[in-house]
Amino acid sequence: MTTTLGRSFRPEWFPVVRSEEVGPRHIHRSQLLNQELAIWRDDDGRVNAWENRCPHRGTRLSVGVNTGKAIKCQYHGWRFASQGGQCSLIPAHPDMKPSARYCVNTFECIEKYGYVWVRLEKGGDKEPLLTLSDDSSLTTLRSIYTMASATRIRDWLMSDCESACKAESLSLEISLSQIHQRHSFCVEALAFNNQDNESITIVIYLHPLTDEETVIHSLVNVDIPHEIRLEELRRYNRLFRTIRNVIETDHVR
Ligand code: FES
Repeated sequence: MTTTLGRSFRPEWFPVVRSEEVGPRHIHRSQLLNQELAIWRDDDGRVNAWENRCPHRGTRLSVGVNTGKAIKCQYHGWRFASQGGQCSLIPAHPDMKPSARYCVNTFECIEKYGYVWVRLEKGGDKEPLLTLSDDSSLTTLRSIYTMASATRIRDWLMSDCESACKAESLSLEISLSQIHQRHSFCVEALAFNNQDNESITIVIYLHPLTDEETVIHSLVNVDIPHEIRLEELRRYNRLFRTIRNVIETDHVR
């Protein structure tokens, strides 16, 4: 189903998963603007973002096997080659060259800032619009699934988040301020950490799965040292879980 929202944002880049979650010989199932995706990495390290649907009989490719060079469909074992998605082997007819029409529907994807970015249609900017200094000084935070539309989350971040962060009842260890919109579904803010009294820049990217479900991805512009990384990630995770709970509770009120 393609909604008006889905249609208008199909030429935009969205982060769909952290790069580290797309491991070798794995197939990550995701969704973007109601489009199901199978995201996988070949043995040369190249990432693919494909429609999660076998062109033969429609089986989900995410339940297939990543052979390192191709995806092998779970149903009849057809293989689809990395990058182009062209069928390279039909086991029932091993000597036959598969027709060009047996090709998976593929989408553009690139890796940047620790994420795999996908756009469903060409036509917008060539690359994600963030202008951050250096990938090595970034830390990607845990992503949070939220039962709310990306528009609703963005509007809440822009209008209510700062005052919510000041509410003593939430007793947050990290609070957000100076929140401003970078582009359609991306906001930037200062994250103040009560533990060390320091502020750092945080970029929050909203990834619309469907019209009513969104993943909140975020990153900070520092390379959090290994010794304190786990505890810091937990703090940010608590912040975003609280934000998620407030938005979802507001939504049903
Ligand atoms: S449905 Fe995928 S190979 Fe037949």
